[in-house]
Order: sequence, then structure tokens, then C-alpha cells
Amino acid sequence: MAENITKMQKLQADRVHQQHWILRYALQRNYHAPVTDLLDQGITVLDSGCGPATWTFEMGETYPNSKFYGIDALNVFPESIKPPNVEFCLSNIAIKIPFPDNTFDYIHQRLLILGLTNDDWENALKELYRVLKPGGYVEIVEPDMQDLCNMGPYLHKTQYTMSDMLLSRNMVPKIAIELQDRLTRTGFVDVVLKMTPLKLNHTDKFGQLLWEDYRHAYLNIRPIMAKSNPEWQDAEVYANYIDLCGKEAKENKTCVNWYAYYAQKPSVS
Ligand SMILES: C[S@@+](CC[C@H](N)C(=O)[O-])C[C@H]1O[C@@H](n2cnc3c(N)ncnc32)[C@H](O)[C@@H]1O
Repeated sequence: MAENITKMQKLQADRVHQQHWILRYALQRNYHAPVTDLLDQGITVLDSGCGPATWTFEMGETYPNSKFYGIDALNVFPESIKPPNVEFCLSNIAIKIPFPDNTFDYIHQRLLILGLTNDDWENALKELYRVLKPGGYVEIVEPDMQDLCNMGPYLHKTQYTMSDMLLSRNMVPKIAIELQDRLTRTGFVDVVLKMTPLKLNHTDKFGQLLWEDYRHAYLNIRPIMAKSNPEWQDAEVYANYIDLCGKEAKENKTCVNWYAYYAQKPSVS
């Protein structure tokens, strides 16, 4: 349900801005679907779960001939200062995307893994399908929230505790893996996956920034993580444990697997 933004959500918005810049730097792109020519010519784009709209703004400025709509369940998006070709609306995508059928040429959705339950994913994908034009592209981008590549025992415990917590809330920590099937079941065709391993706390600047982001997120969820590991009720013990995870990631050259899918709604013959 749409709500007003709190101070906590404002801090979260700052983190989401930072995540955008980390990802742009690591992937060297803002999207994978083959829509560059269409964006140049002028199309209608939806950024589903746009958050503070860093992606929406950057895309709006890069492609002035296209029209961008950002949608989010919270009004975290900027409402007054924005490019002239960007509009926002407040709505829960798992209930209804407030646009008619076949409105958008391209739909982008990134990092909703912590916002949607299993049922929400089913409903949201149906809504994305409904509002996409025949022949249009959908792009959905999520990390694997359970398994990291080259994960040592410290991070394994942290990741699996988090994953169990998500499962207990009917959320889907491995949605990144499941999206191939889920997109197909919804009716999308020609599903393409681009998977990129993102370095976690390796010696380069990017790896360090991604680790800072992960560290911050792990520290924020301590009260929930401590429910299954009582020793983590002590904030210092937990912080030390997370620092060991960071050291381990550096030694093992751990990576976060980042999944970007794009697919099409079948064209009408
Ligand atoms: C981590 S942020 C990602 C923002 C943006 N997509 C990005 O990658 O920069 C997730 C956003 O999804 C929104 N969200 C979660 N569930 C939603 C829902 N059911 N309908 C609409 N927005 C939702 C949250 O309010 C939040 O702003």
C-alpha cells in the first residue's frame, strides 16, 4: 500500500542511489535489452519499482525523445525537479499498474527482491505483461540473494540465515534463478539471461564499494538475523562477524551473481 516516506526510507533512498552508481560502474551500462535505437527514436518506458529514480532520471536525460514513467509503492521519487519527459505514480505493482493494456514499449525493473513475496511476483509479472505492448521488451534485474560464488563458511552462514529469514516471510531469495521459468510461464518469449559475477571486497574500488553496501545491509538486519543466532544479539559480536565475512570474501575472491533477463511479449500476428 502507498505510504508517506519516513526518515528511515530517506536513508534507504540514499543507499539505492549509491547502488545505482556501483552497478552502472560494474556493468558499464544501464540496460541489456536491445532497445537503444528505439529509445533514440522515442518510445514509452516504465521503470517498475523505480525507488528514488536514479535510473529513471539518467535514462530520461540520455533519451529525451522517449517518455519515462516511474512507479513505486512509496513516494520516494522526486516530485518537483525532474526531466520534462519523466513522470511518476504511486502504486503497488503486485495489485495494479495503473495504465491500460499494451501501453509500454519497454519495461525495466531492478532490485525488488526484498519488496515482493512469492504471490506478489506472480501478480506483478502478470501486470507487467498486461501493460507491455506486443513485441515490447521487459527487463528484470536481481542478484542471487542466497548463493555467492566462492563463498566461504562465514558468508555461507550469513547468506543462509538471511535466505531462511526471507523464505519464512514467503519471499524468494533465489528469484534471480527462477525468473527464466516465471517469465516464460507468464507468457513472455525469447527470454535472454545476462549473468555477471560482481566482485565482493576484492582489492579494486568497485569490489570495496559493493562490500560497503553489503556490510551496511547486513548490519541493518541484525535484529532479525539474531533470532536464529542468539550470539548476534550483541551488536559488537555481530559486527566483528560481518567483518570476518568481508575478510573471507577478499581472500576467496567471492562474487555476487547478478542476473539481468530480458524478454518480449509475443507480437500479434
Ligand atoms: C531497492 S529499491 C530499487 C529501486 C530501483 N529499482 C533501483 O534499482 O534503483 C526497491 C523499490 O521497490 C519498491 N517496491 C517494493 N515493492 C513494491 C511494490 N509491490 N510495488 C511498487 N514498488 C515496490 C520499494 O518501495 C523500493 O523503492
